Amino acid sequence: MPISHSTINKNSKAPKPMCYSSIFFYSCLLLLSLSSAAASASIFSGNGTENAENRSDLFSEILRDEAVERLYELGKVSDASGYLERTFFSPASLRAINLIRRWMEDAGLNTWVDQMGNVHGQVEGSIANAEALLIGSHLDTVVDAGMFDGSLGIISAISALKVLYINGKLGKLKRPVEVIAFSDEEGVRFQTTFLGSASVAGILPITAMQISDKRGVTIEDILKENSLEITEGTLLQLKYDPRSVWGYVEVHIEQGPVLERIGFPLGVVKGIAGQTRLKVKVRGSQGHAGTVPMSMRQDPMAAAAELIVLLESLCKHPEEHLSYDGHCSSFNVKSLASSLVCTVGEISTWPSASNVIPGEVTYTVDIRAIDDSGREAVIYELSNRMYQICESRSVSCIIERKHDAGSVVCDPELSTQLKSAAYSAFKRMVGEIHDEVPMLMSGAGHDAMAMSRLTKVGMLFVRCRGGISHSPEEHVLDDDVWAAGLAILSFLESFL
Ligand code: GLV
Ligand code: MN
Ligand code: MN
Repeated sequence: MPISHSTINKNSKAPKPMCYSSIFFYSCLLLLSLSSAAASASIFSGNGTENAENRSDLFSEILRDEAVERLYELGKVSDASGYLERTFFSPASLRAINLIRRWMEDAGLNTWVDQMGNVHGQVEGSIANAEALLIGSHLDTVVDAGMFDGSLGIISAISALKVLYINGKLGKLKRPVEVIAFSDEEGVRFQTTFLGSASVAGILPITAMQISDKRGVTIEDILKENSLEITEGTLLQLKYDPRSVWGYVEVHIEQGPVLERIGFPLGVVKGIAGQTRLKVKVRGSQGHAGTVPMSMRQDPMAAAAELIVLLESLCKHPEEHLSYDGHCSSFNVKSLASSLVCTVGEISTWPSASNVIPGEVTYTVDIRAIDDSGREAVIYELSNRMYQICESRSVSCIIERKHDAGSVVCDPELSTQLKSAAYSAFKRMVGEIHDEVPMLMSGAGHDAMAMSRLTKVGMLFVRCRGGISHSPEEHVLDDDVWAAGLAILSFLESFL
């Protein structure tokens, strides 16, 4: 079976930024050694894996067949009928926790679930007091999700450890190894991401427990419903001691088109874009759709439309909008333009009836860029312009900053180790290869961002069909699931 796809295709909080530094952006955004990687497409479209099928050291039954079966099984654990949705501590999440815990036990791991709903599966190392390797990803999903985002990282890690277990090598790992399935990375319910990994990294403030969902239910309420109580003390106990941790590794679906375009199943992540989430509330004058003359309206819907179009325009062409001072060069703004992405993904109106001019419109804004100071500059300019528009339309607008995560640079040494592991997996599957494992940037957020506050982090990306993610169309080839498991296995073998 070929391993390759056929190649198809007035926030007051914002300080005025001085400059849009290009820091590490230039070295990374434009992805990779495209030229050498492009040449490798043919490597993975040959019949290497057909020969590989019969090799017992490739553990296809566990790393591919069982892993894929488990991805489909977990993909059905949903709160919705007809599509996949699993949010923090929802009934489906609780079922997912039990399932993942069972799979961890099946791999010979000691398991527990902590007070924030993270599932842990651990094996002790043979060297006393050695620092632990953590491998993880998230068990929650977006609404109408694909089944690989998050789950792939959890399942490939469990599968690789299961191979060691079955072969009597699990107890021979020199350092403790722990798989963590984090309870919340998407932030769908509370708009604040990384509830799980931030608690392990020790960066989740106790005040976060008072954040509420749309129905006014707080995180604290949900935990109480599950007989869990989080105090400052228990939150502190969830934090890992950085001296006890060696590093954090995450396998994740790429969620973009690069690996498919260059024909490689796996890539190593250089860094992750920073992100900010805003909640915008526009208030106007609620009224009768048939009686209020157009000239007398204070319509928050029309205002929101203008604000959203402003966002799109600013993020498409920041160079035309940002008033930068003498410290900034056009080069910096250009580099910002290549990574900046802005999205309004959620909008609601009150009272939401066709014959009523709304009284209120609320929407979310998601802003990402590799360059943190550039992202700040965008938020500063955007907020100022938004307040001006709201004033000119006689509506009020409140911009709330719900979430911020700075960009992350993956650890170069760990990345080199992951690169070797990916290389060795390819070599085991298809024989000698001469091409570089691609290095790429992540526009998507990952638990590795929170974990980078605790320890060094490294990530492996797995190719997906059409670069599609956060959609039921998300797909990873069975053989690429296999390649990911084999790469993690090769990585773990370096600790034997
Ligand atoms: C998570 O998938 C994110 O990038 O929002
Ligand atoms: Mn996601
Ligand atoms: Mn994810």
